Amino acid sequence: MQTALSLETIRKDFPILQRKVRENKLLVYLDNASTSQKPIQVIDAINDYYKNQNANIHRAVYALAEEATEAYENTRTKIAKFLNVQKREEIIFVRGTTEAINLVAYSWGRQNVNKGDIIVTTEYEHHSNIVPWQLLTKERGAKLEYIGVDDNGELILDQLDSYLETGKVKLVTFSQMSNVLGTITNTDEIIKRCKKVGVKTLIDGAQSVPHMKVDLSKLECDFFAFSAHKMLGPTGVGVLWVRKEVLETMQPFHGGGDMIREVHKYETTWNDLPYKFEAGTPNIADVIGFSAAIDYLNKIGMDNIRNHEIELTKYALDKMSKVKGITIYGPKDIAKRGGVISFNFHDVHPHDVATIIDKDGVAVRSGHHCAQVLMERLDVAATNRASFYVYNTKQEIDALIGSLNKVAELFKL
Ligand code: ALA
Repeated sequence: MQTALSLETIRKDFPILQRKVRENKLLVYLDNASTSQKPIQVIDAINDYYKNQNANIHRAVYALAEEATEAYENTRTKIAKFLNVQKREEIIFVRGTTEAINLVAYSWGRQNVNKGDIIVTTEYEHHSNIVPWQLLTKERGAKLEYIGVDDNGELILDQLDSYLETGKVKLVTFSQMSNVLGTITNTDEIIKRCKKVGVKTLIDGAQSVPHMKVDLSKLECDFFAFSAHKMLGPTGVGVLWVRKEVLETMQPFHGGGDMIREVHKYETTWNDLPYKFEAGTPNIADVIGFSAAIDYLNKIGMDNIRNHEIELTKYALDKMSKVKGITIYGPKDIAKRGGVISFNFHDVHPHDVATIIDKDGVAVRSGHHCAQVLMERLDVAATNRASFYVYNTKQEIDALIGSLNKVAELFKL
């Protein structure tokens, strides 16, 4: 990797990568699209917060409370910088991508989506970018439509045009990278077409922000959601970014402490942005852990991370395509995909494949990957999925290939 840190140094920062699993096999962790591992810097930051700083934020004036508030708010500023966002009040802390999308559906959706309106999503969405829209459209008498996926694993954008032509679309919502196919969405093109007709856009960045440079000042979407735990940070923390003009029109999602200015018996006024959308004591320790994760990513550099994953994915695709009986899903063109490779062996259940390779210490996900609409489109019940990150090596991919060859031999493929 062309970075200030060598791959060897990076791996030393992740204690879990020294773990032996099953029969004393060194862990080969290839389930990064599910959640990434955490460097010692993130683990230490959380530990240090509880040991030395623990206090509630935005409330008290004593030293600890001030320190905790400052550390929490500094993370917001750091995230704004990471995404090239000028207005830090556009950054809302949530539990994760799922909560971020639900917030938009509940608040903006209920205010703006009415009978006969259309929400457009895609066939390669995670359930978290489908179910909130099903709930909303059913409640409001609106319709949910899908942009289809072609045989190369890319979105069929002509279908977007036909929905936009109806004049009824209120929102187009899509992931910037598919968690199953690895497809990188042609985000600029979708936003351009939507903006032309004044339609809002939401991007699920759960799989993209951890793996490539995202510049929100250039993207021109209205809503953007992602999670800390897929980018070296802790679980239970995520971000919703909303363009300020839109955020100012939105009603609160949750009611409670910190999101209010004044509460009277029958009326309440709201706190400033972004606090209006952060009710209750937040996940302070993990937000501070997230800050350490962003420092770590910045130290490596997002372009270096993307290049490392391109190299690994190329290497893996080349070797995997030679394994007997394997079907690999997603775009063939490496420029159009991230470090996520879904595959199947015909007639062999993905759970059996995952169980066999797990015996060698290789961890991949098997199942529907929270993308059952896509599974229907691919006409499969499930797939196996290997997904890479900053600490993965070609040797680990060799270990995967060795295990996959065992599967092919065992099932006489
Ligand atoms: N969203 C995570 C995945 O795709 C859980 O595996």
